[in-house]
Amino acid sequence: MKQIRIFDTTLRDGEQAPGCSMDLAEKIEIAQALERMKVDVIEAGFAIASQGDFESVQTIARVLKSSTVASLSRATKKDIDVAWNAVKEANSPLIHTFLATSPTHMQYKLKMSEQEVLDTVSSMVAYARNLCPQVEFSAEDAMRSDPAFLAKAVDAAIRAGASIINIPDTVGYAMPSEMAEMLEYLQKNVENIDNVTLSVHCHNDLGLAVANSLAAVRAGATQVECTVNGIGERAGNAALEEIVMAMHTRKDLYPFECAVETSRISPLSRLVYSILGVNAPMNKAVVGQNAFAHEAGIHQHGVMANRATYEIMTPESIGLMQNRMVLGKHSGRHAVEERLSALGYQLSKEELDLLFARFKDLCDRKKTISDHDLEALALHRLSGIASGTGYRLERFTVNSGNYVTSNAVVSVLHDGERTEEVALGDGPIDAAFNAVDKLIPAPPHSLEDYAIQTISEGKDAQGEAIVKIRCGDRVVTGRGLSTDIVEASILAYINGMNKL
Ligand code: KIV
Ligand code: ZN
Repeated sequence: MKQIRIFDTTLRDGEQAPGCSMDLAEKIEIAQALERMKVDVIEAGFAIASQGDFESVQTIARVLKSSTVASLSRATKKDIDVAWNAVKEANSPLIHTFLATSPTHMQYKLKMSEQEVLDTVSSMVAYARNLCPQVEFSAEDAMRSDPAFLAKAVDAAIRAGASIINIPDTVGYAMPSEMAEMLEYLQKNVENIDNVTLSVHCHNDLGLAVANSLAAVRAGATQVECTVNGIGERAGNAALEEIVMAMHTRKDLYPFECAVETSRISPLSRLVYSILGVNAPMNKAVVGQNAFAHEAGIHQHGVMANRATYEIMTPESIGLMQNRMVLGKHSGRHAVEERLSALGYQLSKEELDLLFARFKDLCDRKKTISDHDLEALALHRLSGIASGTGYRLERFTVNSGNYVTSNAVVSVLHDGERTEEVALGDGPIDAAFNAVDKLIPAPPHSLEDYAIQTISEGKDAQGEAIVKIRCGDRVVTGRGLSTDIVEASILAYINGMNKL
């Protein structure tokens, strides 16, 4: 049976979206979860973009065992060298190089003639192929390119040694029928195209990224590029979970193999949403909060009689747990570890020791520990990793009321030293954040967003605070978790400041 490869670009195209930047620990967590899910290719970043990007691509290349690890590069020697240096230690490295082929991009952005573009494709793909056994060439803005010229560029890339040809709908302009026609045209007009992986990469500006990707698969594409939850530039990229579940549910139309383990979809989706500090939209396909909720009486009645009446896929097929096992103070380490693993987390022994200690602390403050509590603890260990070398909250006092000016005293530890500051503010959180600002030196920044939500039900629920701090073009997300929401907020702010 024909194999459809899944190429995930959450850590590259996804991360490029505003508010979606992630730190190294978060990227590694996502990369490992993608590998466990059996995604074929993981694009770990754009290595030349910054030192931080280079380091995260290199670390992911070293850590992953089975998935191919790719770095994006423009079609220049310098970019390709940096991409290669970042991925070369991977078990299966891939250089993904791109150059635009549409008239608009060639004229206004590249200022190159058609011949110059063709020559650059030939020479840069050959250059990359000399370094790396696997090279992908993307014709940026392919879907607004002249098909005959696109065929020439694809031909040049194949002749120069590309093993994957990617056809992006960079601006999300195409319709499903056009996508299919373009792929059919290329398959008819480019020699040897059957010997390479034919890939598509669709953006969602008109809400058609998934439909276009699926049309392309029916028309002969053997690789789909996508991101978890569809995050990405502007309206996002094609959503991995929607592509995989559409092919899985409609096997009659997509009689193809796909290695992805669908039962890992829900935990991975929750991981990515939590890292970005947002909730899944209510009505998001496959992973939305209401994706499996049947509210209307007539639907409930049907589902009770037979789930097939209103359910085309089961919650279990995407790993959405129905039978939640409740943990509490009598639960042992093994039960916690098993539950975490069912939720998609694989922790090292040291991480599990720390998490189990926090679990026991939480059991003193809460009677039952839900899956959400456990997931929050697992995720917040990443904030611990991020702040391991930074500032740590030691203690705080806040004073607030409707007849006093709020004030806060916060003390932090850094490199074994303790410092303390006092600040006033418009409310307890503002006062505490002002004190943290005095304690942690950082470039000019502003608080862009602050939200607090409960992790589970009840008065003893844990509160999770999320802050978004802007520094120039960069927005970092800080997270804090505690049964005390003021403490959760201060932890979140310190976590964000550590990232700055
Ligand atoms: O959207 C796009 O064209 C891209 C390419 C670099 C593959 O992200
Ligand atoms: Zn893209």
